[in-house]
Amino acid sequence: MLTQKMQAALEEHVGAELGSAYLYLAMSAYCEAIAFKGFGRWMRVQFQEETEHATKLLDYLLSRGCKVSFKPVAAPPKEFGTILAVFEQTLEHERSVTKRVHDLYDLAGVEKDTATQVFLQWFVSEQVEEEARASEIVDKLRMVADRPGSALYLDKEYGKRTRG
Ligand code: FEO
Repeated sequence: MLTQKMQAALEEHVGAELGSAYLYLAMSAYCEAIAFKGFGRWMRVQFQEETEHATKLLDYLLSRGCKVSFKPVAAPPKEFGTILAVFEQTLEHERSVTKRVHDLYDLAGVEKDTATQVFLQWFVSEQVEEEARASEIVDKLRMVADRPGSALYLDKEYGKRTRG
């Protein structure tokens, strides 16, 4: 059985993952609206991944016999600036999620909840990938800052992203 504190923190994180999904759905719509359809598709895949993260947590809570409380999810912004700014905000957001995951992992240690620590290891590894993916795009968009043709090439390439 999870401690109350652990359950509450994991429930909070279900909301945070859904908040990430909502943010990336908004970014997807924004990218499409500013004619970066490929990055819009990339963000749509990101949205799907975040909903999977939320359901993975939910399934874990259910497997531990919890009756789950759901938290409100705030509406994301409508404007995100340039395409580079979109991905800088993505990277920043992922860094904040990483911190949340590490805090959860530490809490599981304090609560002496080994099973939850083992479960959270997947999220710790996933965050390394999440940050690396966003960081790579930020670096490339910075490189092509004053070359719109190259930005459109990146848009096309990243639009090929599929789930997996
Ligand atoms: Fe589920 Fe992007 O963290």
